[in-house]
Order: sequence, then structure tokens, then C-alpha cells
Amino acid sequence: MNFNDIIEKRRSINFFDPQKDVSQKDLTRMIELAGNTPSSFNLQPWNLMVLRNPEEKERLKKAAWDQPKVAEAPVVLIVLADKKGWQEGHPVFEKNWEKMLEAGSMESAQREWFLNATQSLYNWSPDANLAFAAKNAGFFAMSLMYAATSLGLETHPMDGFDHNGVQKEFKIPDNYWIPLLLAVGYKKKDLELTPPKWRKTYDEIVVSF
Ligand SMILES: Cc1cc2nc3c(=O)[nH]c(=O)nc-3n(C[C@H](O)[C@H](O)[C@H](O)COP(=O)(O)O)c2cc1C
Repeated sequence: MNFNDIIEKRRSINFFDPQKDVSQKDLTRMIELAGNTPSSFNLQPWNLMVLRNPEEKERLKKAAWDQPKVAEAPVVLIVLADKKGWQEGHPVFEKNWEKMLEAGSMESAQREWFLNATQSLYNWSPDANLAFAAKNAGFFAMSLMYAATSLGLETHPMDGFDHNGVQKEFKIPDNYWIPLLLAVGYKKKDLELTPPKWRKTYDEIVVSF
């Protein structure tokens, strides 16, 4: 499938086949393909919780407007955006620093510069922490959807859920914000898709001030 086909084929699927499971091989491939997503300083401030267990999905559904697809899809991902992913001492921050030294794209003497850069960009207010996490995890989520389509899987993104309720129910630490849930699976047999939704045109997207 070329990329144009992937973009045009991806749809939000409301009704999943609960009998057709997603193999761990496909799920791993989908997640690792999406791992190629670009991020601020390559900090990759995203994580996923993978829910397959019916009891867990039922608990999530209760906090997600009771949307049936949360229980029907064989896999539901809780996408997590790490508001502290820019912080000195964070394991990914430190791994990234080591990798940059190894690759020669930074030198030890630049550590102070790097700390100041991430601080000044992503820690000037709580909103900046959130924006850092949300934009990067949002790009990652989009990659997950396209990666799924490329593997013949269907998805449905959802922000119709009680954020704090999900955070509490699944004991998700405070450094995370949850941009969306992502149902993954296969379309229910014989489900007729509605025509694609309208989209803004070039002229509606491009503005000048
Ligand atoms: C961040 C985000 C949150 C969404 N939340 C929901 C949701 O909670 N429930 C739902 O039925 N659809 C949800 N949608 C799906 C949108 O309605 C859908 O993407 C849009 O109508 C375009 O349709 P398409 O994805 O089939 O092209 C969400 C989409 C995104 C990107």
C-alpha cells in the first residue's frame, strides 16, 4: 500500500469484530513503526498502555462515555503524553543524551546548553509542559493509525472519556496527560462504511493575517 492509499483508506471504525484478535506480532510492528515519529529533540515523550483483557476494557468503557467500541475492539491503547519528558534525570532524557554523545551530534561540554534549551522551551509554564507532551504524543498517535492501516488493521481514536477518571482507575502517574484512547482491531463483518467525512480545502486551511 503506498502512502496515498494509507491516508485515504484510514477511517475511524465504530464497530469492531470482537472475535478477530490482533496478533502480538502485528501490534508490536505497528507500535515500532510508529516509533519512527519525529519528536522535540528526539525525546519521544509518549507511552502506551495496552488493554486486551475484557474486564479492563469494560472498566475503561465505563469511563469513556460507554462507547461500545472500547469493549468490542480486541485491543485498546491508552496513549500517554509525558509532561516531564524534557526533564534532567528522566530516564529517556538521559538515554537520549547518551545516544547523542555516542552519535557525535552533541559533546559533553554542550550539556548545560541542552538543559537550558529544553527548560526554556518546555518548562516556562504548566501549559508549556502540556503542549510539549500533547504535540509530540499527538504526532505519535497519528503514526500509530497510519501504521495500523498499512498492516491491514482498523483503528478509532477517542477523546470522549473522563480524563481524571481514567487516570485514577488505571493508576496512571501524574506526569502523564492522556490525549486519546485508540481502539485497534478489524471491522465488523459486513459493516458498510458511511462515505468519507467532508474535509477542509486548501483555501479553507491556508490563512494569512
Ligand atoms: C483526537 C480525536 C478524538 C476523537 N474522539 C472520538 C470519540 O470519542 N468518539 C468517536 O466516536 N469518534 C471520535 N473521533 C473520531 C472523529 O469523529 C473522526 O476522526 C472524524 O469524524 C473523521 O472521520 P474519519 O476518522 O473516519 O476520517 C476522534 C478523533 C480524534 C482525532
